[in-house]
Amino acid sequence: ASTAATSVSISGDISSQLHSGYSHPLARSWQAERQLTKSMLIYPLFISDQDDEEVLVPSLPNQCRRGLNKVIPFLEPLVNKGLRAVMLFGVPLRPGTKDALGTSADDPEGPVIRAIRALRQRFPHLYICADVCLCEYTSHGHCGILRDDGSLNNQLSVDRISDVAIAYARAGAHCVAPSDMNDGRIRAIKLKLIEEGIAHNVTLMSYAAKFSGCLYGPFRDAAGSVPSFGDRRCYQLPPGGRGLARRAIVRDINEGADIIMVKPAGQYLDIISDAKELGKDLPIAAYQVSGEFAMIHAGAKAGVFDLKAMAFESTEGILRAGATIVVSYFAPEFLDWLSD
Ligand code: PBG
Ligand code: ZN
Repeated sequence: ASTAATSVSISGDISSQLHSGYSHPLARSWQAERQLTKSMLIYPLFISDQDDEEVLVPSLPNQCRRGLNKVIPFLEPLVNKGLRAVMLFGVPLRPGTKDALGTSADDPEGPVIRAIRALRQRFPHLYICADVCLCEYTSHGHCGILRDDGSLNNQLSVDRISDVAIAYARAGAHCVAPSDMNDGRIRAIKLKLIEEGIAHNVTLMSYAAKFSGCLYGPFRDAAGSVPSFGDRRCYQLPPGGRGLARRAIVRDINEGADIIMVKPAGQYLDIISDAKELGKDLPIAAYQVSGEFAMIHAGAKAGVFDLKAMAFESTEGILRAGATIVVSYFAPEFLDWLSD
């Protein structure tokens, strides 16, 4: 009887047996190359110049625009739960703050520089990334300085954006992250950081593969950065442009980027995977942008899926594609979910 039992199916194809590797929850987790941890998360924050403001952004579920006096108490419990990093976006609301050159982007009394200083002091272990762009500060809402015909003047824009990056770094940002997409800004920022003698302790994160499209709408509501004319298609990448994205990634690595970012995330998993391959020795960040976040909330609200399950599933896809850093509006929820 025992010989009959052992000879049953070993003549079959042993390699067809897969279930054995993932029957247990722990064994299932071992199937992933990497698991989401709290230290992978960067939480985006909208900081307005109205110190006492705290206003929900209607198109961006549960997210607020906050002044400095509200941001600090808001962050306190999150930092206690293990939040390690934030990305700051300034929102100047005071009338007359915007002009054609985005002059207020590096105002020492502006929201970003004041927030960098205050957060460094209040939360010494929190890693502060500052998004660097002009669109929140220009009267026309574009990500640079314009020529008379409305196109970006690349040289003037790069000069200005690199100055803004230096101002944020000097104020104490651990990381500056230019999101403007002007050609050559990574090199310009790196050279100025070296010239200032601060290149050794400021990380340069490039929004290298940033695609144009309709997923930034809620962000632009929050930041008040909708362009007053035209669109961003001549500087953000065309959605089909995989080769162009690869060139931008290689270029920005060669110009001195420490981290390469891909954005949006969920619609561009192939690009994250390309970034991982091209930048195999760099950390790769993915930004799950405002429209992706709003879409997941809308789907959950419509009963299509459970919010938490979908938040994890979308993030697992991003990690599987190759990201090791995730910029996400779900960060506060993940701090709770990852502690459960
Ligand atoms: C600014 C900037 C944008 C985002 C990050 N930095 C908006 C844009 O380019 O229009 C989008 C982030 C999001 O949608 O969550 N240049
Ligand atoms: Zn911009």
